[in-house]
Amino acid sequence: MNTLLYIQSSIFSDAGTSSGLARQFADKWRQVHPHGSVIERDLAREPVPHLDADRFHAFSLPAEQRSPAQQAAVEYSDRLIEELQRADTLVLGLPLYNFGVPSTLKAYFDHVARAGITFRYTAQGSVGLLTGKRAVVFATRGGIYEGADTQPQYIRNFLGFLGIEAIEFVFAEGLALGEASKQRAIAQAQTELAGLQILQRQAA
Ligand SMILES: Cc1cc2nc3c(=O)[nH]c(=O)nc-3n(C[C@H](O)[C@H](O)[C@H](O)COP(=O)(O)O)c2cc1C
Repeated sequence: MNTLLYIQSSIFSDAGTSSGLARQFADKWRQVHPHGSVIERDLAREPVPHLDADRFHAFSLPAEQRSPAQQAAVEYSDRLIEELQRADTLVLGLPLYNFGVPSTLKAYFDHVARAGITFRYTAQGSVGLLTGKRAVVFATRGGIYEGADTQPQYIRNFLGFLGIEAIEFVFAEGLALGEASKQRAIAQAQTELAGLQILQRQAA
């Protein structure tokens, strides 16, 4: 079954501009895949805890050596990873906050990068284990950067590390530069969204 994992990382939850664009994508995806399943993960409503040493150590301990708290930490991470494994498509609402990704998204990433499960090291380097998936990222920002900021490359590096290399970005920039600029940016992003190959091809 086709499965979409819909992640929103805006601190404003459903009210975020990035969330709105990602939701429009999810709605169109549902039309293309009426029998598909959508998994929603809202990182504002259910924040992932910061990764700390206890949690990190728990990931590498054999099950029989884990304390109940460590076992719970591993099961929580496992659940996040299962959602990624089940999905063939990932849609991410991605605001730019202080020149980086939302801290909730970083915490999420810290819980899904697990050696031996989502990536592994070989003599030739690392290999991502979440292959055969596509990602669409709705990147919203107050200013205008036109690719000159580090956030998109960071996302490509991280998802690529896990094996997700087919990534499309839709930008809505200049959202803080007045109402006209905001409306123009959203309209342009919506036009790009409607023309996304991933929706066209699967509709055929
Ligand atoms: C805490 C915070 C930090 C922000 N930092 C930046 C920034 O570094 N650069 C920028 O262009 N816009 C910045 N903005 C503006 C957001 O990127 C913009 O409002 C975006 O649409 C937010 O998406 P959202 O509504 O989905 O949360 C910031 C907004 C907030 C709330």
